Amino acid sequence: MALHAMLLPQKLLLGAFILAAIAASQPDSSCYDTCGNVSVPYPFGTTDGCYLDLAFLITCNDSFEPPKPFLGSSNIDVLDISLSDGELRITNFIASDCYNESGLPVHDFYSDLTLEDFFISYTRNKFTVVGCDTYAFIYGSGVQNYTSGLDARCDHIDSVVNGSCSGIGCSQTSIPKGISSLYLSVNSYKNHSAVRSFNPCGFAFVVEAEAYNFSSSDLQQLENTKSFPMVIDWAVGNETCEDAKKNMTSYACKAEDSYCYNSTNGPGYRCNCSTGFHGNPYLSDGCTDIDECKNPESCDNKTQICNNFFGGFNCSCRKGYEEDGSEKSCRAKENQSRVIIIALGFSIGLLALVVGGSWISCALKRRKLLKLKQKFFKQNGGLMLQQKITSQRGSMETDKIFSTEELEKATNNYDKSRVLGQGGYGTVYKGVLPNKKVVAIKKSKINDKSQIEQFINEVIVLTQINHKNVVKLLGCCLETEVPLLVYEFITNGTLYDHIHNKSLSSSLSWEKRLKIAAETAGALAYLHFSTSMPIIHRDVKSTNILLDDNYMAKVSDFGASKLIPLDKTQLTTLVQGTFGYLDPEYFHTSQLTEKSDVYSFGVVVAELLTGKEVLSFNRPESERNLAMYFISAIKEDRLVQILEDDIVNEGNIEELKEVSNLVGRCLRVRGEDRPTMKEVAMELEGLAVMVKHPWGEDDLYTEEAEYFLNGPRHSFNIDIGIDCSSTVGYSSITNQVPKPIDDGR
Ligand SMILES: *[C@@H]1O[C@H](CO)[C@@H](O)[C@H](O)[C@H]1NC(C)=O
Ligand SMILES: *[C@@H]1O[C@H](CO)[C@@H](O)[C@H](O)[C@H]1NC(C)=O
Ligand SMILES: *[C@@H]1O[C@H](CO)[C@@H](O)[C@H](O)[C@H]1NC(C)=O
Ligand SMILES: *[C@@H]1O[C@H](CO)[C@@H](O)[C@H](O)[C@H]1NC(C)=O
Ligand SMILES: *[C@@H]1O[C@H](CO)[C@@H](O)[C@H](O)[C@H]1NC(C)=O
Ligand SMILES: *[C@@H]1O[C@H](CO)[C@@H](O)[C@H](O)[C@H]1NC(C)=O
Ligand SMILES: *[C@@H]1O[C@H](CO)[C@@H](O)[C@H](O)[C@H]1NC(C)=O
Ligand SMILES: *[C@@H]1O[C@H](CO)[C@@H](O)[C@H](O)[C@H]1NC(C)=O
Ligand SMILES: *[C@@H]1O[C@H](CO)[C@@H](O)[C@H](O)[C@H]1NC(C)=O
Ligand SMILES: *[C@@H]1O[C@H](CO)[C@@H](O)[C@H](O)[C@H]1NC(C)=O
Ligand SMILES: *[C@@H]1O[C@H](CO)[C@@H](O)[C@H](O)[C@H]1NC(C)=O
Ligand SMILES: *[C@@H]1O[C@H](CO)[C@@H](O)[C@H](O)[C@H]1NC(C)=O
Repeated sequence: MALHAMLLPQKLLLGAFILAAIAASQPDSSCYDTCGNVSVPYPFGTTDGCYLDLAFLITCNDSFEPPKPFLGSSNIDVLDISLSDGELRITNFIASDCYNESGLPVHDFYSDLTLEDFFISYTRNKFTVVGCDTYAFIYGSGVQNYTSGLDARCDHIDSVVNGSCSGIGCSQTSIPKGISSLYLSVNSYKNHSAVRSFNPCGFAFVVEAEAYNFSSSDLQQLENTKSFPMVIDWAVGNETCEDAKKNMTSYACKAEDSYCYNSTNGPGYRCNCSTGFHGNPYLSDGCTDIDECKNPESCDNKTQICNNFFGGFNCSCRKGYEEDGSEKSCRAKENQSRVIIIALGFSIGLLALVVGGSWISCALKRRKLLKLKQKFFKQNGGLMLQQKITSQRGSMETDKIFSTEELEKATNNYDKSRVLGQGGYGTVYKGVLPNKKVVAIKKSKINDKSQIEQFINEVIVLTQINHKNVVKLLGCCLETEVPLLVYEFITNGTLYDHIHNKSLSSSLSWEKRLKIAAETAGALAYLHFSTSMPIIHRDVKSTNILLDDNYMAKVSDFGASKLIPLDKTQLTTLVQGTFGYLDPEYFHTSQLTEKSDVYSFGVVVAELLTGKEVLSFNRPESERNLAMYFISAIKEDRLVQILEDDIVNEGNIEELKEVSNLVGRCLRVRGEDRPTMKEVAMELEGLAVMVKHPWGEDDLYTEEAEYFLNGPRHSFNIDIGIDCSSTVGYSSITNQVPKPIDDGR
């Protein structure tokens, strides 16, 4: 084992005080800098006095051959430590779920990782699920809580593609930043009975993306692999650079020629040697000059001499050569004075040539760019759209197709500060059009040629939708590689924020909640029944419902939506949606109908009524899935306990019960048994009017009330009980089927 080859810097001898101060936080020469064949550079260390603080303790266990490093006092095995990237590679266990020939579970491992001080890299790892009858959940916590699910299916081993994790046999997704603890669980839909011959197990793991290539043999053999490498981001302390610099004693960037930068994943900072220097920035005198002249590429050896100096280098001309204006070379000297005149004439000619040439090349470039844009326009279905527009004459104005330049200008070239949100379907930017109109611009991720026709249809249908509770699509841009959509800008954030952010939820009164529910229902009913081709939203959830300053609901994100041709009542599709809101019937059968939106809407209203997360691993197992929890609360007649306290105090309990029963009907397992969105909307609108204008008050005979009286009366004849015979709760997490609901009648 090598020892730290650290020479005590001579200048420290100048002052005993400085020596003492620095020695207190610097490792001395008795520190080991390796463990087995893993190098352990400071701030990491294996023994007292050798690490910066306890977060950087590496426990070296000599009972392995070669010795093995572990993070702190945990059993997390360290593979590699990188100073310049601020990364650690560790091994992480795989979660698995296996079945034997009789379809019985043989072993079922979950995977669990808790980091005390560091965060899991969100750029370098992927949450991966492998199997043919498999779904898995990931639950992360740290700076933020996070839950997600993935599934992987296949019918036959020949249908999987080596190296491709796009849902068939293997699925992958990124994880967010700020996650320090992970819990993975994996389960099967049908105990692998149909696929056991080639895939008896399902697997889930978070792995360094570059270290894992899916192959069909993994379906069988991954059982023998216990762990995979994973990358974590480390950082010093929990302060920003600016705050850390205030105390030079504890500031970790000790080297003179170093700089500090904030960690991008969680709190804390890291150090780097300045340009022109290399080494360990955490040690005083750790950053040393790079001798660039050792690199033959630095200067042109034939005409130049390389001079290294502290923090940089330069190239000077060899004898007989002179500067030629470029740094990378010199040219041979000529000594007649007449040559100068010739050279002058020549260089003027050259200048003219260069100016002319660059003008021509500029024009060529511009033409090339124009061609590229036209190509993208074609590829993205611009022609198709133009055709449709002309064939529909007048129903859509052509200014609804924006140009790249307009949108680049509107978003300040897609500046990071303009990002409003990021989702599965793309990134949304805030933009300001030349007429000062503020818009939201979505840079979509879909770029699948087969989806383009569908995309165009959606654009056309959405530009035609004019409903006050649907976010208005103002237009699109097809000249870029990925299509861009331009929406009206909604000012007040998502319904999710208003429900779950305590400071916002207190001002969300019962009346407002009911209004939001009624408006959302109205918008969905409109999509289902009033457009030329029914539209199924497919991803109804509280983060996709936006609110304006008057709490008017605006349904958004049609990235997953499907148009249903009139001659079909259902469609078989790849299951898409968000766990917790996803219709279990659709999830199991892949048959998409309007009733899937009804189910998701029911979950949103349950969220509105209870203020609880739709899926939470912090609740007991039977209560994790809000839909199931809600139904069992209705059944056990303990609704009041789970409803948000504020609205129970404020609201009329009968109204709350009516809405809750409506939610119960929306959440029925069989789509057929759920009401249509139209019925739901009518019922909620009736209630909302009643809350605003209670019966018996003077304004009973306002216009609104009159409409209400003439309207369909049955819409508020609410059936207080629940039809039980066919209602079965559902939980995708526990995979248990609860008993049918019995309301005691
Ligand atoms: C460490 O050494 C062992 C045996 O010498 C070798 O198998 C292993 O690949 C090495 N690991 C690294 C990270 O170099
Ligand atoms: C080293 O590893 C062995 C085997 O896993 C274990 O029994 C022992 O307690 C470890 N030693 C230390 C110091 O952690
Ligand atoms: C730190 O230095 C490494 C390599 O020297 C470089 O790759 C990295 O980008 C630098 N990080 C920052 C934030 O400057
Ligand atoms: C496994 O699946 C098969 C077929 O789907 C079924 O017959 C069997 O009962 C299942 N076994 C268990 C334990 O669920
Ligand atoms: C399957 O596993 C169960 C217990 O998990 C065991 O009782 C049964 O005998 C096993 N069947 C076969 C065929 O191995
Ligand atoms: C995560 O959830 C737990 C339990 O509900 C809660 O205590 C904690 O504050 C949450 N953390 C964050 C960052 O929201
Ligand atoms: C994965 O495949 C790529 C190219 O297909 C290859 O460069 C890489 O080394 C492979 N990685 C592993 C861990 O096999
Ligand atoms: C995929 O890889 C496995 C093993 O790595 C190999 O046996 C199989 O033939 C490959 N399949 C295809 C389609 O290349
Ligand atoms: C930052 O770290 C210090 C000591 O490590 C601790 O006392 C303090 O509570 C931490 N602050 C925050 C905001 O986590
Ligand atoms: C600076 O940091 C040192 C070492 O962590 C600590 O002892 C000292 O109290 C700190 N000084 C101030 C002013 O916070
Ligand atoms: C570190 O973060 C703080 C607060 O976010 C910011 O003000 C500061 O400019 C950042 N410093 C560096 C060096 O990036
Ligand atoms: C550069 O050229 C000199 C002689 O002109 C030669 O001695 C030297 O090795 C060359 N250096 C490199 C790095 O090629």
